[in-house]
Amino acid sequence: MRILGIETSCDDTAVAIVEDGAVVLNHALISQIDVHKEYNGVVPELAARKHLEALLPLIDCVIEGANVTLSSVDAIAVTNRPGLVGSLLVGVSAAKGLAYALNKPLIAVDHIAAHSYAAHLTHEIAFPYIALIVSGGHTLLMRVTDHGEYAPLGTTLDDAVGEAYDKLSKYMGLGYPGGPVIDLLAQKGNPNAIRYPKAKIDRYNFSYSGLKTAAIYQTERLLNEGHEATRENIAASFQKAAIDTLYEKTILCAKEEGVPRVVLGGGVAANSYLRKRFTETEDVTAYLPDRQYTSDNAAMAAGLAYHRAKKGDYADMRLDVASRVVERTALRS
Ligand code: KG4
Ligand code: ZN
Repeated sequence: MRILGIETSCDDTAVAIVEDGAVVLNHALISQIDVHKEYNGVVPELAARKHLEALLPLIDCVIEGANVTLSSVDAIAVTNRPGLVGSLLVGVSAAKGLAYALNKPLIAVDHIAAHSYAAHLTHEIAFPYIALIVSGGHTLLMRVTDHGEYAPLGTTLDDAVGEAYDKLSKYMGLGYPGGPVIDLLAQKGNPNAIRYPKAKIDRYNFSYSGLKTAAIYQTERLLNEGHEATRENIAASFQKAAIDTLYEKTILCAKEEGVPRVVLGGGVAANSYLRKRFTETEDVTAYLPDRQYTSDNAAMAAGLAYHRAKKGDYADMRLDVASRVVERTALRS
């Protein structure tokens, strides 16, 4: 089954053609980083306008690159939640138009479920598992029972982990997005130079505003003797505090839930230290998405859609968008 996937939930316009859930014939995206970086964050109105400009030419380009025709596609999949409403509407409207014009079925994709599907593009993974979805907008621990079926167990009470990276980067004058550049700097610094606090939040919840504030305003006070507050040391010490919390809570969650498998997803899943910790762990079997599928992309959406289609979970022309993470996806018996 050949599925055309469209993903416009935030600031990447992405399109993919995927067969049978895992054979990626082509995928591409147009990033809006250049548009948003002067504001140090995503401006929703600009994001929607840019999706509108980029989407149709990108669909043509991806179809051509895959060496297929639009009429050979069996279904159209689109991310409809959660995300920026204006951005989601551009993708959903285009998908409805295509589905109607081509007389093909429409499949709605939950973006959080798609992030946890990204690792399935390159790994065989048994259910259930614990997924850690970490990006600029989300820090979520959830129990995944099937493709597209999950229950959140914990989330951030304030900033998302990627957002904390982005804000520290903005303060340090390193631009947007901050994750990749702080990750690189961290590799040259000493993670024990500064005693940044790890938030003590109940169970599987997270908090990143305290760490962010400490890194921005309290570095001198938290400096360990004999160390300097260099950019590299700030990045390395921040990264250790940010990622160790993710790692420790995920392992605790997997143990308490009695689930020995962990799947990572989202832009922060590209982080070198996070990947190292989960690659080296002996406590669980960890599945990491290929780096090209960590941040927003349409291959994960089209891949997941195949499994929703197999269950007959099709959408119709009344499909709407939603900004928030659902409390629990519909669980089938
Ligand atoms: O999934 P994504 O592309 O978009 C959403 O936010 O949905 O994630 C982007 C986030 C940004 O906050 C970015 O700074 C962060 O992922 N990020 C990283 C790394 N690469 C991207 N954070 C830490 N380390 C990285 N290597
Ligand atoms: Zn995302």
